Amino acid sequence: MEVDQLILFVFVSCLSSRFAGAYDPVDPNGNIIINWDFQSIENVYTVMVSIHNHQLYRHIEQPGWRLSWRWAGDEIIWGMTGAEATEQGDCHRIRGATRPHCCEKQPVIVDLPPGTPYNNQVANCCRGGVLSSLTQNNRTSTAAFQMVVGSFKHVSYHDGARGPALPSRFGIGVPGYSCSNATKVNATSESEKPELPAGDGEAISPVFRCTDHMCPVRVHWHVKISYREYWRVKVTITNYNLVKNYSNWNLVVQHPNLRSLTQLFSFNYQPLIQYGTVNNTGIFWGIQYYNEMLLQDGNVQTEMILRKDKGDFTFSGGWAFPRRVYFDGHECVMPPPDQYPLLPNRGLDSRISVAQWLLMASSCLLSLSIFLIV
Ligand SMILES: *[C@@H]1O[C@H](CO)[C@@H](O)[C@H](O)[C@H]1NC(C)=O
Ligand SMILES: *[C@@H]1O[C@H](CO)[C@@H](O)[C@H](O)[C@H]1NC(C)=O
Ligand SMILES: *[C@@H]1O[C@H](CO)[C@@H](O)[C@H](O)[C@H]1NC(C)=O
Ligand SMILES: *[C@@H]1O[C@H](CO)[C@@H](O)[C@H](O)[C@H]1NC(C)=O
Ligand SMILES: *[C@@H]1O[C@H](CO)[C@@H](O)[C@H](O)[C@H]1NC(C)=O
Repeated sequence: MEVDQLILFVFVSCLSSRFAGAYDPVDPNGNIIINWDFQSIENVYTVMVSIHNHQLYRHIEQPGWRLSWRWAGDEIIWGMTGAEATEQGDCHRIRGATRPHCCEKQPVIVDLPPGTPYNNQVANCCRGGVLSSLTQNNRTSTAAFQMVVGSFKHVSYHDGARGPALPSRFGIGVPGYSCSNATKVNATSESEKPELPAGDGEAISPVFRCTDHMCPVRVHWHVKISYREYWRVKVTITNYNLVKNYSNWNLVVQHPNLRSLTQLFSFNYQPLIQYGTVNNTGIFWGIQYYNEMLLQDGNVQTEMILRKDKGDFTFSGGWAFPRRVYFDGHECVMPPPDQYPLLPNRGLDSRISVAQWLLMASSCLLSLSIFLIV
């Protein structure tokens, strides 16, 4: 074994999410499916709504999903289990002992928090709107709630007898922020740490101590050891945000040598193979009860050993660094090619940091698409 490489490579994920219908080459078939299962079709009917995150690596983090649609007629929601509408709306026309849950033409529904009383739960509800990616957990990638819907006028059928009118204009609003929203603090002691803003379902702006990049998360790819036939990389993900834990975080990396990943420590890995034999992209995530949560002001680390593919492998030209990286579905900013660290001349302990250029914060895109299947 010879230790002849010590190269540092730093890049940063700026967390911002936006709803975009953009094509995602890493997960071209990813989508979110919303099912409406009508359990009874009467004047007042019961429907089980379920949301299935069929995306391989993108998940929905806190403050969670919000689902909205527009009623075709004058429907009102009499009751809801496993979720709730954000506003009751104007129900003054409704007389009687029972108050409707929501009279909005365009209701906005949010999930209930964990620990909701059992009699207000349905299966797969009550996770605070958080949906994991399909790869990480195919059970918690689904959410559901049940509602009882009736009509103000007793006519909830559309066009006669075809059954309840389907609502339209569905939307899931996924909140986000970018580096520019960050509140900078000079936190050097516990007492200076800011209070967590009251969680009212809104996204919390990142708060972190001053760094030169001012981004909440840094992914550090460290090419650590070169063996004769293998090489070793250490990856550290650092959370600079003082008020946010990333639960069920994930990291997607594209690198041509991932097809020869031989050994991995402390993380899970699953290749994301989408184009025949091209096996250059995969998802890393934490081990349950060990490091699945990236704590505020903390970090998680892995080391991996890759086999040097003959005719392909090289330390020159930046080949050893990833081509593309996403943290929690947000594409990380990569250094421009001329700022890649070079091989250390002869010294063993050369450390080259490329953090400076990151002063220009860029946004990341979260792309989702919705298919309505009934
Ligand atoms: C869900 O995941 C579990 C364990 O990760 C796996 O055994 C099971 O086959 C998966 N189910 C489906 C439908 O993919
Ligand atoms: C972040 O900043 C943008 C632009 O200034 C703003 O539209 C957005 O609401 C902010 N987000 C939060 C969570 O404060
Ligand atoms: C942080 O420290 C700098 C220099 O000491 C000071 O100018 C700045 O106001 C401080 N910021 C906060 C948020 O305390
Ligand atoms: C993050 O997790 C730690 C340990 O579980 C907890 O003490 C802290 O309150 C959490 N922070 C937030 C913002 O939820
Ligand atoms: C893809 O690469 C992984 C190692 O990262 C390997 O275990 C797996 O067998 C490869 N799959 C295919 C289809 O080549």
